[in-house]
Amino acid sequence: MAEQNYDAYREGVAGRADVEDTPELIAYYRSLEKLEAGALWTVANKIEPWQPRSESVPVLWRYRDMREHVLRSVDLVSPEKAGRRVIYLSNPGRREVSAAVGWLYSGLQVMHPGEVASAHAHSSSALRFIMEGTGAYTVVDGHKMTLGRNDFVLTPNGTWHEHGVAEEGTACIWQDGLDIPLVNALEAGFYAVHPDLRQAVTHPVNDSTATWGAPGLRPQNGDWNKRYSPLFKYEWEPTYEALVRHARVTDGSPFDGVLMHYVNPVTGGPVMSTIGASMQLLRPGEQTRAHRHTGSFIYQVAKGSGYSIINGKRLDWTERDIFCVPSWAFHEHANSSSSDDACLFCFNDLPVMQALNLYREEALAENGGHQTVAA
Ligand SMILES: [Fe+2]
Ligand SMILES: [Fe+2]
Repeated sequence: MAEQNYDAYREGVAGRADVEDTPELIAYYRSLEKLEAGALWTVANKIEPWQPRSESVPVLWRYRDMREHVLRSVDLVSPEKAGRRVIYLSNPGRREVSAAVGWLYSGLQVMHPGEVASAHAHSSSALRFIMEGTGAYTVVDGHKMTLGRNDFVLTPNGTWHEHGVAEEGTACIWQDGLDIPLVNALEAGFYAVHPDLRQAVTHPVNDSTATWGAPGLRPQNGDWNKRYSPLFKYEWEPTYEALVRHARVTDGSPFDGVLMHYVNPVTGGPVMSTIGASMQLLRPGEQTRAHRHTGSFIYQVAKGSGYSIINGKRLDWTERDIFCVPSWAFHEHANSSSSDDACLFCFNDLPVMQALNLYREEALAENGGHQTVAA
């Protein structure tokens, strides 16, 4: 049997574990193992790093590479057989939990005209960002929403939901985002298939946006006490207009350009308990400074082209590309066009970081706030 060492994580720093193996200690550790126990000082430096050490790596999923494979899934499996016909984004450091980054899952779903995915509910919170096609719709607890390009839709945890594309529509592709890995890590996930496989539409189509979607206005008798936004759909046109208008009167953030959060109109807080989302605008030629913070972030390029530098790795992106920023990774963004703005949709686990008092942020001090790009 190979000699097992217990002192691999020693650190010669006052206050940190620094115990060298001896034959007597090794015998002691083995006797503890027989009792399903261990000495903390053998693992303390490993389980309590000085700062977050993400297993996730920065990844760019180019739409031009992904798209044909996503479309091909239509010929290979039916939505009935697959449940949900999705190609998911698999971070090389997070394959075991099927995460795109950190504790967030993401995938690209395709549906053809006339197809419907069966109604279901789960403990995970979910969102969708529409990439291409016409005629897509989502039904959430009897509220039906018609969906267009760059629309952002919620399917909060516990709600019955289903998706489809109208007969007269075209093939539709959207990005799904869920907190499945987080819910699984917390061992709290339930899944249910609707007993009728379809749910009835019990409200007028698009009533959610007609009721809750007016900026700065709250409807009389607009009672809502659920822990997610009553506005299930955030349309692209008013979102973009809001960013353009805001950009006229602000310099924005040095790290994010002009960024607006999608919010629950009742609370002003995040759209769901575990997932937040934002849209940001980078003005022509804008280059942000680098910072890092806790939380995992998945971006989709809604408009324009440019690049991001994430922990020294440059990722060049264009419309529809998706990339991720792992927790505590330095990142900065740039719009490479001198004439057009660029918009980045983002979803993240910021509400979790904030609710658990785990959010921390730090600007890059050196080099004028810009990273050196690794060769
Ligand atoms: Fe779902
Ligand atoms: Fe950031």
